Amino acid sequence: MTRSSISRRTVLQTAGGLLVASGMAPASAFAFQNESREEKDKDLIFRSTMPRNAEPELAKLVQSWQTPTELFYVRSHAPNPVIDPKQFKLSVEGLVRRPGTFSLDEIKQMPAVSTTATLTCAGNRRSEYNGSEYPNVPNVSGVQWEGGTIGNATWVGALLATLLKRVEVTEGAKHIWFEGLDEIPKKGSVIGFGGSIPIEKAMVEEGPGAPLLTYTMNGAALTPDHGYPLRMVVPGYIGARSVKWLGRIVVSDRPSPNHYVATAYKIVKKTSPIDWSESGPIYRFPINAAICTPAADSTLAAGSVKLTGYALPSGRNGSSIKDLLISADNGKTWTRGEMTGKKQDFCWQLWNAEVNVNANTKELLLRATDSSGDFMPARIPWNAKGYLRNSWYRLPVNVK
Ligand code: MTE
Repeated sequence: MTRSSISRRTVLQTAGGLLVASGMAPASAFAFQNESREEKDKDLIFRSTMPRNAEPELAKLVQSWQTPTELFYVRSHAPNPVIDPKQFKLSVEGLVRRPGTFSLDEIKQMPAVSTTATLTCAGNRRSEYNGSEYPNVPNVSGVQWEGGTIGNATWVGALLATLLKRVEVTEGAKHIWFEGLDEIPKKGSVIGFGGSIPIEKAMVEEGPGAPLLTYTMNGAALTPDHGYPLRMVVPGYIGARSVKWLGRIVVSDRPSPNHYVATAYKIVKKTSPIDWSESGPIYRFPINAAICTPAADSTLAAGSVKLTGYALPSGRNGSSIKDLLISADNGKTWTRGEMTGKKQDFCWQLWNAEVNVNANTKELLLRATDSSGDFMPARIPWNAKGYLRNSWYRLPVNVK
């Protein structure tokens, strides 16, 4: 059922080198787009520019509960496709009675739903896997993220459930696949970034956990970095399931065979075929939290220190942070942090705390639990791709 990489290429080449698949605009538009972005890029720390992978400084990240778009992390596997919204069509096929395509206007004519939800990358805090904690394992490759690949935005779009009802899903449907219009070179061919979610999640239509075919972010059209003109937002799931530049949906009896579902975004000890096939795709994100101020390696005066940060409850209905604790003496004593600002399902919470530090304090430790019973463990087993790092957050400091 997947469009082969050869046919993706053919579509591009028959247009004399111009990108026309599903309304993609001429490649020359890239230059203009990149120039106009330079100003905004100053707010982010770029881990790579081609593709664009960037996270904000942690101190800036926790200045507001709703993350301004210019401070929202960017995680992309290929250059942003340039898509003409007038020519854009979303195709829907597979186990449906009425397969077809939908223009952007047709999607915008469906009832609009607004949801505030946190997106976080499964690779958030990946760089911590390469510390001294795991001496006998290879370094984890991939973008060396610190704790900034998380953000909380307001999204507007149509319910995925509305679209699925319109195309009349047939019996046997169990998974919904998403495919992006980006062009990612992979093993000698070119693929779009793919995601897939179980049908039970796809059909949620009540409450903030409902997946959205999203066209605005924080009150404005999606930016090219965040998936213009249309992306999925799947509250409670790792960011990889919120496919950007969405061009195709397939209703199937199995999870997507796309590389980013079948191979990447799994917890494995080895990257061998048997390890990939024995491990299931990651869907829901677990609890996580970070200290955002002071910065790592700050020099602090002995005495009371104020801390701020974020804490993300696991991606379940009704889950919120229950306890957030800080230690300045390597875990002998713990001080409770205070949640500030809003508390909403599928959203992070901001917190602040005050602890006493002295010349023996080398690290500040942070741990949290949530109302669903999820907790940050003291240590987390190493995994080959460096995903879901949510062990106690350890901030190195110097105290004078
Ligand atoms: N969708 C497409 N088409 N291509 C991508 O590279 N990256 C995914 C997801 N959707 C990606 C994608 C990953 S891994 C994450 S964490 C989120 O988008 C990041 O969304 P953002 O860049 O808007 O923060």
